[in-house]
Amino acid sequence: MNISKKESLHTHIGVLKHADAIGKEYGSRLMTNKDKYVYLLEPTMYDYIMKIQHGTQIVYPKDLGYIAARAGIQDGQKILEIGTGSGSMTSFVASIVKPRGHVYTFDVDENFMKIAEKNIRRAGVSKYVTQHNLDLKTSKETPVTDMDVALIDLGDPWIVIPKVRQMLKGSGSVFAICPTMNQLEKLTMALVENEFTDIESTEHIIRTIEAREGKTRHSFQGIGHTTYLCFARKAFFGRTKAKATTKAKTTTKAKTTTKAKTTKKSTKN
Ligand SMILES: C[S@@+](CC[C@H](N)C(=O)[O-])C[C@H]1O[C@@H](n2cnc3c(N)ncnc32)[C@H](O)[C@@H]1O
Repeated sequence: MNISKKESLHTHIGVLKHADAIGKEYGSRLMTNKDKYVYLLEPTMYDYIMKIQHGTQIVYPKDLGYIAARAGIQDGQKILEIGTGSGSMTSFVASIVKPRGHVYTFDVDENFMKIAEKNIRRAGVSKYVTQHNLDLKTSKETPVTDMDVALIDLGDPWIVIPKVRQMLKGSGSVFAICPTMNQLEKLTMALVENEFTDIESTEHIIRTIEAREGKTRHSFQGIGHTTYLCFARKAFFGRTKAKATTKAKTTTKAKTTTKAKTTKKSTKN
């Protein structure tokens, strides 16, 4: 994000002239007009997310970190996201899959999409994100395929599981954000029904410790309930005919056959 020399930042501890910050090394101490000091720190993705403009509830860093680790999100991957919301999760995953990967994110609400667009731009990752205004619950389209990871943040994630399956690679990961246990139950049933394995539901609680000599203890402040997370991986249970397995992908011939089959029989994959 760029700032202008002519502008100032008004805070509860006084006014800070942008001109005093521009050109200074990160870590420098700056003075406000009330003779209070602040430090000039380079913003991280955590800072962008914690300062995001909220159109909706967002996914917080405490959950984002686990999502990235459990699903093995890395540079070059293709990520499907259903429910862009304010773009918190979008920005975070885009910052990991860049520069070779991409996030394809879907939402039905144009107002939220605009807020997300601004937040994603501020976080500096617009180049790695494509926003779609499409309802994957009802759409007959399969706009993206071969996704490494699918992230779902909707009230009724179980509805999109068959669609998500079509868009994911074999063994690809799915994560759903579920604020209630009822959602976890319904979702888990849908995951089993749609041949997902390694299913895991978790809650992530973060506690801040106030560390001071001789009186270290938990902080009185804390975040209450945010959400549960549900994770799973796409498998082939063998209920239907042989599938395109990792082995089949080792030869070009097999690849071509697989593709041809996919085009003809696009109903179940
Ligand atoms: C809780 S928000 C997502 C927040 C987001 N994960 C974040 O971190 O900022 C849920 C979003 O799902 C969207 N949504 C609801 N139904 C949808 C559907 N059928 N397809 C796509 N998005 C949908 C809503 O418009 C809303 O923006």
